[in-house]
Amino acid sequence: MASFLFKSTIIHTFLLYVMFSSDLGYPPPFVSTLGINYGQVGNNLPPPEKVLQLFSALKITKTRIYDTNPEILKSFAQSGIEIIVTVENEMMGVVINPQQAVQWVTTHIKPYFPASRITGIAVGNEIFTMNDATLIGNVVPAMVSIHQALVQLGLDSYIQVSTANSLAVLANSYPPSAGSFRQDLMGVMSQLLQFLNATRSPFWINAYPYFAYKDDPNRIPLDYVLFNPNSGMVDPYTKLHYDNMLYAQVDAVIFAAYRMGFGGVEVRVSETGWPSKGDSNEVGATIANAEIYNKNLLRRQLTNEGTPLRPNQRLEVYLFALFNEDMKPGPTSERNYGLYEPDLTMTYNVGLSSLSSTTTAASISLTSSAGEVRH
Ligand SMILES: *[C@@H]1O[C@H](CO)[C@@H](O)[C@H](O)[C@H]1NC(C)=O
Repeated sequence: MASFLFKSTIIHTFLLYVMFSSDLGYPPPFVSTLGINYGQVGNNLPPPEKVLQLFSALKITKTRIYDTNPEILKSFAQSGIEIIVTVENEMMGVVINPQQAVQWVTTHIKPYFPASRITGIAVGNEIFTMNDATLIGNVVPAMVSIHQALVQLGLDSYIQVSTANSLAVLANSYPPSAGSFRQDLMGVMSQLLQFLNATRSPFWINAYPYFAYKDDPNRIPLDYVLFNPNSGMVDPYTKLHYDNMLYAQVDAVIFAAYRMGFGGVEVRVSETGWPSKGDSNEVGATIANAEIYNKNLLRRQLTNEGTPLRPNQRLEVYLFALFNEDMKPGPTSERNYGLYEPDLTMTYNVGLSSLSSTTTAASISLTSSAGEVRH
């Protein structure tokens, strides 16, 4: 909590950084590390133009979509918003063919780039934990083909290729220093990490402390998963102190990669969130908890911090999700991860709009003195 007292100082420093590091021609990002996943599994979602207005109002400059929806890619042109798109799981078997991959990039990326600032392609979502050996075996070859297609079309220096993993790729995640991949996935994880290392692309993890809490609410302290003040835990091997589960999960992934010889690959959180509603057996899925989790995470994000293992490498996080999605199958929680309702009202007030107006004010007040403060 103490660090939050210094919030305004940190925001100022942070803004100076983003002002001088942002690419020319795009508006400077404010809550720059934070992205929001824009899922579209709903029959009542607002049109992309409205969604763009929401992003602009919130000063959120990064998003990830689960396809290459042309309406979204068209609407987000010239907005400066960074977009990660997805090669759908059903396409793995097609895009492993190099010619089909060129075709895919030519059809789904090229017409929209660079007007729409596509910065990443997720080749599949959570495939490694899907129990389909053929699909699993196709992921890395599909990534290689898509990357080769980007090289051929001159886009590889702008667009990173990776895949989003569920935390279930790990066999161990506690303590973080014991992090390791599942034995049956060692082969594909090694190929994946080799590709990511060679192309300097991030390992994306979808990490939900909520699941751990829901499965074992009597043993897992709620404050630890919600980023509330708590005594936390000390990793007995590294002696690092963890005050929240998300950072512990990320460091477990870093350790798992390190065990395979790839300690240098950056780990980013491609999804995290908390449902505001659930079935009676979904312990902890409440509006109050969802609000606290996302609000606390947002505050930590504003300080630009890393995890205990990589304190100087800011952790990139994409919240899940922008909207409640009424067509999602599964338990009630699945349809209730949204920060917003489809009618654009807030599910709860996570504080994004007030944070973005604070940072706007800070940036304006800094403009005149920015030159002196820059080192
Ligand atoms: C990771 O990439 C670097 C730079 O290309 C290379 O020097 C290194 O050998 C790679 N690491 C592994 C384990 O392949």
